[in-house]
Amino acid sequence: MNIQELNQRFALAGQLLFRTGPGGLPLVEIFNDQASASICLMGGHVMSWQPREHAPVLWMSGHSNYQIGKAIRGGIPICWPWFGANAKSPEFPAHGIARTALWRVLSTASIEKGVTQLRLGLNQTDAGFSGWPHNFDLELAVTVGQSLQVTLGIRNSGSDSFTWTGALHSYFSVGHITEVTVEGLQGLPYTDRLDPIIPKSEDHSIHITAETDRIYTATEQACRIVDRSLGRNIHVEKSGSRSTVVWNPWVNKAAAMADFGNEEYPGMICIEAANAADDAVTLEPGDEHKLTQIIRVD
Ligand code: BG6
Repeated sequence: MNIQELNQRFALAGQLLFRTGPGGLPLVEIFNDQASASICLMGGHVMSWQPREHAPVLWMSGHSNYQIGKAIRGGIPICWPWFGANAKSPEFPAHGIARTALWRVLSTASIEKGVTQLRLGLNQTDAGFSGWPHNFDLELAVTVGQSLQVTLGIRNSGSDSFTWTGALHSYFSVGHITEVTVEGLQGLPYTDRLDPIIPKSEDHSIHITAETDRIYTATEQACRIVDRSLGRNIHVEKSGSRSTVVWNPWVNKAAAMADFGNEEYPGMICIEAANAADDAVTLEPGDEHKLTQIIRVD
């Protein structure tokens, strides 16, 4: 469907419309009484969310690609059906195929109190990637209001079981990373992806002062990003996930990424609701898993 057809079928007057965004990417723009947001149909990618009376909550790189087939740097990439590099086939795209595939619009709705909901779908045929030979049905529900809820439903629609990993890879905007702490993960074991042999843990809240790439491997807990420079807290709740990823590339890794500005790393932190490492999920035919992240600010 082109933009005109999408608007005819799914626009909500004064609340939701489709338009062509940078690089020709199809976008959904939402404005309601509680917040504004934009979602790219490539990747089912939430690119921005701004509750009223607050600054934008999600971070987006000024150097991001905007091109079909290339990952967007910022917002909420959907990593699926593998997290990070594919263990068996390292030549496959990092973080899976969902973040660069074109999703279908399933429905749009104004739900209670003027909150807007968008539902998108992706299946094996849409994704068109023979390297993942399993039938699946993904359904993404993005609910935009004073809080932002993103739920990824994963259903095995084939006749064999499969095992996947993934994440809602949320990038949060912060004033300056040195003025930020992350609470809710202290005392929990994590795999340090920069030094993965021995599991580690810290008994204090996280304060990032160097490249950080951790998978907390046994947590269903919410996190709180305490940002003293912007004077706000971002609460990140989740369900359907027992692993949480914390990532900031710092100086050298940022410099090595073409789609990440050298000076941008102090302005962001990723807190990802994941099913990664030991938290891989096996789905039998017909089974479904739901991974949810709920974000709010105070
Ligand atoms: C994080 C990983 O989730 O994503 C990091 O833990 C990785 O290792 C980062 O560098 C970004 O990945 P990508 O594929 O978007 O560059």
